[in-house]
Amino acid sequence: MLNKKNIISENIPVPLLQPLSAADPMSIDIKNLHFLLSEEGAVILRNFDFTPEILEKFSNLFCHQFHTPATRSSRKVSGDNYSTEVFPHNYTLLGHTEGSYRPNPTPPEICFFMCITPPIEKGGETTLADGIKFLELLPQEVRSKFEKFGITYEMYWEKERWMNEFYVNDKQSLEKFLSGVESVKYNINQHEELHLFYTTSAITKSRSGKKVFATAILAHLPHITHPEYINKTTYSKPSNRVYFGDGEELSDQVVNQLIDIYDQIIYPHRWQERDVVVVDNTRYLHGRTMTEKDCPRSLISRFGRVNLTEFE
Ligand SMILES: [Fe+2]
Repeated sequence: MLNKKNIISENIPVPLLQPLSAADPMSIDIKNLHFLLSEEGAVILRNFDFTPEILEKFSNLFCHQFHTPATRSSRKVSGDNYSTEVFPHNYTLLGHTEGSYRPNPTPPEICFFMCITPPIEKGGETTLADGIKFLELLPQEVRSKFEKFGITYEMYWEKERWMNEFYVNDKQSLEKFLSGVESVKYNINQHEELHLFYTTSAITKSRSGKKVFATAILAHLPHITHPEYINKTTYSKPSNRVYFGDGEELSDQVVNQLIDIYDQIIYPHRWQERDVVVVDNTRYLHGRTMTEKDCPRSLISRFGRVNLTEFE
């Protein structure tokens, strides 16, 4: 039931699959969904009878090796603990790929987002941005530097954070793990706080082999000076830094160029109850906008790697 004929585009860049009457999510042809995701990078599923339990079952058909974001307090919404609730606070988070700011574990390939309670106020969308378009619009000078040097993320993490990020329990295990990773420089102080630099490629290939600019830069900034965002509650963390891989910090001017491109290409998805958005995390960035007034907004997410044996 999942082919181009069933897809309503509604002039949005992301395909929307919406049966005329409510349908069983388990009736979706997983191989076709995989094909569509490989072609398009993201798919919206609307008017399916998703529940958190069914999302778990459905995503397990598609993915394995699920992981929990280290920054999330896990809310057990279904059986296996990998479904977590996104932060309920009202803020804007610029587009990023999940988990690509650190060397290990390997970032998830697929993100599943499901809406439990859509925001009733203006805003509160999940934003999606295609890393292929992002790359096409990069100014040549910036693109060349990213191509040549890659990107370095700098971060300070207290013990609880690095334990959650790297699945280690003590300083010795952390040192053992990091000493085996080539792309990092680090220091651990007497308070067991980790100061980490991680260098990686900035221009990468998506799962389907397309060149993309799909990074975690915009969610790893120390501050935001872009005029569109300066007066909004937009996530940044003063101890974070982002550099070209040769050590030159990204200037506010470069960051604002990146935000301009992001703003130009985003699709802000206005949620309806039980909508599910499936995202290829090797290609698409995701973020969120704040609502004009505070209101309930509840989404759950799952992050996994594609179980290729399902698609042979
Ligand atoms: Fe995220």
